[in-house]
Amino acid sequence: MYQAPRGTQDILPEDAGYWRFVEEQVRRQANLFGYGEIRTPTFEEVGVFLRGVGAGTDIVEKEMYAFKDKGDDELALRPEMTAAVMRAYLEHGIFNRPQPVRLYSLANVFRYDRPQAGRYREFHQFNAEAIGELDPLLDAEMIRLVWQCLTSLGLTRLKLQLNSIGCPLCRPGYLAELVRTYEQRLAEVCPDCERRIRLNPMRLLDCKNAQCQALIEAAPKTMDYLCPECAAHFRKVRGYLDEVALPYQLNHRLVRGLDYYTRTVFEVWPAVAGSQSSLGGGGRYDGLAEQLGGRPTPAVGFAAGLERIILNLKSQDIPVPILRGAEVFIAPLGEAARGAAFRLADSLRTRGATTVVAAGERSLKAQLRQANAIGARWAFILGDEELAAGEVTVRDLTRAEQAREAQDKAIERVLQAREQQT
Ligand code: HAM
Repeated sequence: MYQAPRGTQDILPEDAGYWRFVEEQVRRQANLFGYGEIRTPTFEEVGVFLRGVGAGTDIVEKEMYAFKDKGDDELALRPEMTAAVMRAYLEHGIFNRPQPVRLYSLANVFRYDRPQAGRYREFHQFNAEAIGELDPLLDAEMIRLVWQCLTSLGLTRLKLQLNSIGCPLCRPGYLAELVRTYEQRLAEVCPDCERRIRLNPMRLLDCKNAQCQALIEAAPKTMDYLCPECAAHFRKVRGYLDEVALPYQLNHRLVRGLDYYTRTVFEVWPAVAGSQSSLGGGGRYDGLAEQLGGRPTPAVGFAAGLERIILNLKSQDIPVPILRGAEVFIAPLGEAARGAAFRLADSLRTRGATTVVAAGERSLKAQLRQANAIGARWAFILGDEELAAGEVTVRDLTRAEQAREAQDKAIERVLQAREQQT
């Protein structure tokens, strides 16, 4: 028997309520903040991510589903949305519209990662980007938006982690200092970090190895090495967050796993944080447009993982609206009744009542069992006698009462009961 590929999940109807709830809430928030929806292809030319996210990042180097198609084109399943959205922004000349442009997406993304709780190979992101403006107000707006999305779902005890990692002007000075510190204490450095010193020193701060933790604590902090422009920008971001009393923790170890970030970076952690548990993260990426061949274009954004959000809704016991099944289940008895049932279902649906017709030849008992299983309120039983009289036996499944009546009246009864409920 086949199974879903490792690291992927089927979402069954009993779980769909969580997905619908989260998707609807985040769409609502995106709307409230004035973000328009953008959808991009599931795969892109591989260069979009090689140049965009960075060839040396884990996401691109180790985790990307890259392949050649039958026409020898080099493609990749998107491992994230930002580079793809920027590609679309440049391709369609969206820079000619009034800036900034605010865009959001709900999308599946793919990373060949080691699967575990909250970490999958196909997962879903709510992604938002504001492109074409340097104003720190937008950094704060992004943070406000992700915070609002998560708290409006009912999640509590979240922690916002905030840092600024500077720009191409001030970062080299910082990195030189960081490397100097590490080189002075080489004996304490783990093998992974020994490589990072040469290849990607920024990621030294991200090391989870116990032996490196004291070093990281003692390491110089990006925030202390910001150029005047970056420092002023960061001060303003914090000022805006204070305006709306949004609590944050400054975290000098927060560097993020994608190469495009400049200045502000942030993550939202759940109450119980493990190493792989950030609910959402993002930051400013003023150099990405140029990396992809466009003009210099400042931008900021974030993505939040829907699977992780749903895991947290469940672990915090947060109820979500139940998706209602059919209201009416029609149980025809015999061949002649089936055609009438098919027609009756049409009339019910035309009036807005969700209706399921029994399929296959099953006993009345078996049909009613199915009616209960799908959560129907009413069973309409159609036998030869009912058929001849233009009637139907209506059983109220919540009360186990039943009565025979004209089909029109039965439809009215369903609609009236629904009105009383709402
Ligand atoms: P990211 O931090 O790589 O950022 O991913 C964002 C979120 O996706 C994470 O916080 C997490 O909730 C979820 N996530 C990441 N990997 C997995 C996984 N293997 N399984 C389940 N969930 C996962 C980005 O992708 C950036 N593009 C965000 C951004 C947008 N920056 C600027 N604009």
